[in-house]
Amino acid sequence: MTFNQPNDRRNFVKTLGASVATSTVPGLLFNTSAASAQTNQEIITRKIPRTGESLPAIGLGTYLTFDLLPGAPRTHIQEVIKRFWENGGRVFDTSPLYGSGEISVGDFASSMAINEQMFICNKIWSTGEFLSDDSHAKRSFEQSQQRLWRDKIDLMQVHSLVNVDQIVPVLKNWKKEGKIRYVGVTHHEIPYFPALAGHVERSYLDFVQVHYSIQMRLAEDRILPAAMDKGTAMLVNMPFEKARLLNLVQGRPLPSFAKKIACENWAQYFLKWVISHPAITCVIPATSNPVHQSQNIGALRGPLPDKDLRSRMLKHMESMPGFDKLQETPPYPGKSYQGLIRRAINARTAVAR
Ligand SMILES: NC(=O)c1ccc[n+]([C@@H]2O[C@H](COP(=O)([O-])OP(=O)(O)OC[C@H]3O[C@@H](n4cnc5c(N)ncnc54)[C@H](OP(=O)(O)O)[C@@H]3O)[C@@H](O)[C@H]2O)c1
Repeated sequence: MTFNQPNDRRNFVKTLGASVATSTVPGLLFNTSAASAQTNQEIITRKIPRTGESLPAIGLGTYLTFDLLPGAPRTHIQEVIKRFWENGGRVFDTSPLYGSGEISVGDFASSMAINEQMFICNKIWSTGEFLSDDSHAKRSFEQSQQRLWRDKIDLMQVHSLVNVDQIVPVLKNWKKEGKIRYVGVTHHEIPYFPALAGHVERSYLDFVQVHYSIQMRLAEDRILPAAMDKGTAMLVNMPFEKARLLNLVQGRPLPSFAKKIACENWAQYFLKWVISHPAITCVIPATSNPVHQSQNIGALRGPLPDKDLRSRMLKHMESMPGFDKLQETPPYPGKSYQGLIRRAINARTAVAR
């Protein structure tokens, strides 16, 4: 299958890189004074260690938020993508497991004629019928190509390490054949962090995606230092702890020191905290709400906190009742998503009842 590939993405990113000054040199950030780090005109970019390609440090996740039923209202999602794109966002994270998420990305991106310039991070969840059976992985990839309207996909990740030892070699072959550009793995659950760290330490992947937030900092122990040591790009999922962080701070004013890093809202506070760690390449917050998108993508500009300010930001959060117990509270407080995934979960719950 071949789609039209005018593919000037590399030139585009090169132009983008040349047109912005960046102070986000990995390893130097903790020594950078907050006030001098950025001006409002610059977007914060990070280099993929293996190639030096630049990416904007704020991306866009799609789990639940882009999963729409046929016929359901959808203009809000188009507006989310538009605001993301117009403000410098380029990196999308999706998966065949996200209901109609891939279709939403492909559909809206194509209608906005931005499809070829996006940096698409997609996933494979493949077990096959027997060990070394890659037929399911191939079918999954072809389906993703069709849904995303893309011949080539930038990054393919083994979703939640499923069948990882069988699938990474398949992805590496696809990379050699030019079907994909980068190979990675993902997880978000804490019991899998040692395994994820092992994959970073083997230094054989381009990208690793991990759960990291101001509240869940376990990746700092082994995964992030190894990523800097081995030159592995890091994507970050769940920066808002699935909306629980934003729910916790609802109605609370920002501390006055947040002005030092030009935070206008709590979303920017949490995102700037994440991307100021020197190991992080890009964070991928999800939203279905255009107003939230404007808040989130605002974190792509302005100064970042240095090490001292990061500690102060954390201390401030630790003073809030409930912060230490956040992992024990239900995800997505106050949110309701009505896509294919939720419908399937609701149907299963109804049968169980
Ligand atoms: N194993 C894996 O590979 C894995 C696992 C988890 C996640 N991921 C990826 O990482 C992405 C991000 O993680 P996530 O979606 O689980 O969690 P998240 O980004 O921490 O939280 C998303 C939630 O935050 C809310 N939100 C976003 N911006 C907001 C704002 N400015 N104000 C108030 N609420 C806001 C969203 O609600 P609204 O819709 O109302 O804005 C949504 O409910 C996923 O979408 C997915 O692409 C991958």
